[in-house]
Amino acid sequence: TKKAFIFDLDGVIVDTAKYHFLAWQKLANQLGIEFTHEHNEGLKGVSRVRSLEIILELGKIQASEEDKNKWLIQKNEEYLSYLVTMDEKELLPDVIRVLQYLKDKNQFIALGSASKNARPILEKTNIMHFFDAIIDGNDVSNAKPDPEVFLRAAQLVGVTNENAIVFEDSVAGIQAANIANMTSVGIGDQSVLHEAKYNFKDFTFIDEATLDKLIH
Ligand code: G6P
Ligand code: MG
Repeated sequence: TKKAFIFDLDGVIVDTAKYHFLAWQKLANQLGIEFTHEHNEGLKGVSRVRSLEIILELGKIQASEEDKNKWLIQKNEEYLSYLVTMDEKELLPDVIRVLQYLKDKNQFIALGSASKNARPILEKTNIMHFFDAIIDGNDVSNAKPDPEVFLRAAQLVGVTNENAIVFEDSVAGIQAANIANMTSVGIGDQSVLHEAKYNFKDFTFIDEATLDKLIH
């Protein structure tokens, strides 16, 4: 049977976590809140709206809906300003090799991301053509660890959950894949992603034998 390989975007395909960090940090500092890399870890895989709530809780700030909407727009504009010059160079190591190998082996490839900016990023980095299905932050209402985003992606290509493999760099995303009974593959620090079925520091550690094992 043909399997579905579902990729998270930020931190798995592209190294955008640093831009999300800079944009959130700028907003937090403007609101008088200290925002460190440690704080940022907890925002990985978390939707834009929920991320703002977490930052406001951190600063014990109560805000009106109007202010929150203003800050969400401001953060996104700042984030987008970093993407203007984005191209293939921002793809993480060996992402293309893995995508091409799976394509050559006639597997389904899908995106399962919380980001509402996913499509322009796939276009700028020239990898849109690899994807049979794209589910992103515009399509789902429940954020990871809710498995909605991965369930929708597998459905779209017509593959059962047991035949889906998820690549994720966030704890919430690994939990979402596990809840969905999919094979979870952590990309990043094993100590952070210990709930994943398999773990690799990055795609350079995933060789053809490993991919063949996931395919069969
Ligand atoms: C991913 C990232 C988060 C980001 C979220 C929403 O999950 O890991 O850092 O906040 O997507 O992204 P967006 O581009 O819609 O603000
Ligand atoms: Mg991610």
